Amino acid sequence: MRVGVYDSGVGGLTVTKSLIEHRLFDEIIYFGDTARVPYGTKDSKTIIKYSLEALDFLKSFDIDMLIVACNTVSAYALEELRKNASFDVFGVIEPGVLATVNALNDKNSSILILGTKATIASGQYQKLLSQKGYENIISLAPSLFVPIVEEGLFEGDVLKSAVKYYFKDIKQNPDAIILGCTHFPLIAKAIGEYFPNSVLVHSGDAIVEYLRTKRRLRSNADTTTLKLLASDNLERVKKTAKTWLCGLI
Ligand code: DGL
Repeated sequence: MRVGVYDSGVGGLTVTKSLIEHRLFDEIIYFGDTARVPYGTKDSKTIIKYSLEALDFLKSFDIDMLIVACNTVSAYALEELRKNASFDVFGVIEPGVLATVNALNDKNSSILILGTKATIASGQYQKLLSQKGYENIISLAPSLFVPIVEEGLFEGDVLKSAVKYYFKDIKQNPDAIILGCTHFPLIAKAIGEYFPNSVLVHSGDAIVEYLRTKRRLRSNADTTTLKLLASDNLERVKKTAKTWLCGLI
């Protein structure tokens, strides 16, 4: 099966990593809209417009399914994408919520949602969690985490200061933290060190679990070939993929 994976930039490679590790697909066509990243600071009209353009582009690769790795696109454009595609389109928010609920036993558990400004403003994670009976929710948009990851600062003082800055008002260790942005799994270690007792929910693992349980996809691809596409600076995307997908491609 050939799947398209779409993100605003290189962050969706974190989701791609989970898909390759779990051998769900024979082929992945990855498209990062690197010319227009970040999406997380844009308004809904722009996010939907960019998403439909990306869909048109990916259609020419004859994909059987589309996975929207980007939380921001998943929050705003899923419905429009589904209306305009003849194949299944999956986002990462519903899988992330299901993974969170599966990890928690108690409806009073505290949940911290981390995402871009747009994702948090959409209220999508909050709404779905609330429908499942979870109300003890804090949501936060630590915007500087995205450029920090883009700079490759996966550890060190800059990251530590940013983590401290954004989390300083959260006095209790949340029971679960949703890494609701493609970039955040890359700094999961630093987040986990600050909140050592939290379960961290990663979009990549969540979508794999979702496809296995809800769509009955099996891990039966011998190998997964990855084609990388980008709207700007493909060489940089390839270089990043080599680092992030270490040993897998
Ligand atoms: N890919 C985006 C997301 O997961 C993060 C980067 C951006 O703002 O475009 O929400």
